Amino acid sequence: MDYAVLLSEEHPELPLAELEATLRADGIEFEIQEKEGKLVFLDGDEVEEVADRLALSFEISEVLHSFQPENYQKLATKNLEAEEPFSVRTARVDGTEAPEELEENVGRMIDRNSDVDVDLESPGEVFRAYLVNGEAHLSRLKADTDRGEFESRKNQHRPFSSPVTLHPRLARTLVNLSEVGRDGSLLDPFCGTGGILLEAGLIGCDLYGSDVQEEMVEGTRENLEAFNLEGDIREAEFSDAEAEFGRQFDAVVTDLPYGKASVTEGDPTEEFVETAPELTDGKVVFMSDKEEIDGLEPEFEFYVHRSMTRYVYVME
Ligand SMILES: C[S@@+](CC[C@H](N)C(=O)[O-])C[C@H]1O[C@@H](n2cnc3c(N)ncnc32)[C@H](O)[C@@H]1O
Repeated sequence: MDYAVLLSEEHPELPLAELEATLRADGIEFEIQEKEGKLVFLDGDEVEEVADRLALSFEISEVLHSFQPENYQKLATKNLEAEEPFSVRTARVDGTEAPEELEENVGRMIDRNSDVDVDLESPGEVFRAYLVNGEAHLSRLKADTDRGEFESRKNQHRPFSSPVTLHPRLARTLVNLSEVGRDGSLLDPFCGTGGILLEAGLIGCDLYGSDVQEEMVEGTRENLEAFNLEGDIREAEFSDAEAEFGRQFDAVVTDLPYGKASVTEGDPTEEFVETAPELTDGKVVFMSDKEEIDGLEPEFEFYVHRSMTRYVYVME
């Protein structure tokens, strides 16, 4: 089946990388066909199943037919049918503007084959016409991602907060980049307030975390509990994490301490890069403020603001 996924534009590469990693994590076979701005076309089965864990996409649709907007009458031959009261909404992907009344005209083409009516207020089925490069791609919306949900989990909405935490959308993206399965185990050995663990727990992972500060360990436990999640969270220096847990994990995902906010003597970054791969037979994904670590290069550069850039590393 042909799908179209509308990506966010928060970053030039991360949204597509997150989508691909998440499809692999959930064992969904797919092939990217092309990317037109923030719209990516792919071939696959049940691609919409990943919508509930994606952070950097808006919606997933099944592509029905591509046409020139002015030739919308050609849709008459396509047997387009709605099964539930429906609506048609255009979406501009680039500068291509929808001709006036395109929604209405496409709606009429669908209506003539359907036993149900148009319902603009609360449609049971939504058709999208994505406008890109002068073409309209008529699609049936299969799943929305709930981006508002991430906002509701921001630092200030959790019982234990600290400015060190990542935005929940970025934390979820790191989890997805690790390709951890929904029933996989994930370790964050610098867990802070538990932002990464929270996002991993909400997709179903078994949670393991540690931090050198007792306050953070207790805070993580409190935050997880507030979202009805459980985890094995311990107070430990990173170098003791392996002995402390005595096991391997399906993924290690973390946000390393940054120079200024370091609470321990010495920077654990190099030791982390050297030893973290031993803690997992899957991937190690981490954020750092370093643009290179012992010859290791980041996969993504993440611009936070004028004086702050972060780097995302992915180690196999
Ligand atoms: C950038 S913060 C992590 C933030 C976390 N992702 C969150 O959502 O809150 C880094 C954490 O590493 C911890 N830390 C610093 N040095 C450590 C070490 N050597 N071993 C374990 N934890 C350490 C700090 O206490 C801090 O909570």
